[in-house]
Amino acid sequence: MTHSSSTQEIPAPGAVPRHVAIIMDGNGRWAKGRRLPRIAGHRRGVEAVRETVRACVERGVEYLTLFAFSSENWRRPADEVALLMQLFQVALASEVDKLHRNGVRLKVVGDTGRFDPAIRRLIEQGERLTAENRRLTLTVAANYGGRWDILQALSRLLAQSPAPADRVLDESALAPYLAMSYAPEPDLFIRTGGEQRISNFLLWQLAYAELYFTDTLWPDFDAAALDAAFASYRQRERRFGRTGEQTAAAKRAEVA
Ligand code: IPE
Ligand code: IPE
Ligand code: MG
Repeated sequence: MTHSSSTQEIPAPGAVPRHVAIIMDGNGRWAKGRRLPRIAGHRRGVEAVRETVRACVERGVEYLTLFAFSSENWRRPADEVALLMQLFQVALASEVDKLHRNGVRLKVVGDTGRFDPAIRRLIEQGERLTAENRRLTLTVAANYGGRWDILQALSRLLAQSPAPADRVLDESALAPYLAMSYAPEPDLFIRTGGEQRISNFLLWQLAYAELYFTDTLWPDFDAAALDAAFASYRQRERRFGRTGEQTAAAKRAEVA
């Protein structure tokens, strides 16, 4: 199933965001503050992931998307990259069964071809095992970049149906080829760790997401921090280009 774009159709409002996308930032600083190696922060970050997944399931979030490794993160020191890969592999090996028992569908988006075959195998197995689960779809963005996504979608679209010179492309032609075509666009974007930037995360899909930035470092993020983000989300008026009056009228019609 594909979902129409927020620039084409206005999604139904809800108290709980249907799709939450998070840039989990601040692991390194969390560790540094405790005079620990950066990897200790990444390890604690995995615990924050567990808690966030659990909290999202409890609150009825349908899609949770986590930025785990960006296409730019290869620039980090080789030993940190190697440890992150190892942590990803261990987390996949140890968490997938638990996710499955809890009705969570796992998806991994990004250019996974660059990963070790063992990691690629675990991704395939995890996605296959959990494919029918619908309580929550957990997407892990790994070696993901928003620009990569748009370009891979365009390349696949053109490979499917080579374009005559006069062909006009529209959004709905490209959308099915984007890496997250199975999900509606994020309603709420959260970035922990204090930076206020998108860092090449879901560029296309965040067109109308509500943006929420918190200084909380990712390893300290928990259910209460998630609720604070949701409380902020509930205060927002999502206009999607309309006036405030139109938005309020549409909301009244929804409630009636
Ligand atoms: C986010 O934490 C995790 C990854 C990018 C893999 P960081 O490692 O970026 O933590 P800071 O920003 O250095 O504190
Ligand atoms: C963004 O965090 C990527 C992930 C959380 C995976 P970074 O810490 O790498 O972002 P920048 O480079 O500071 O923007
Ligand atoms: Mg960072």
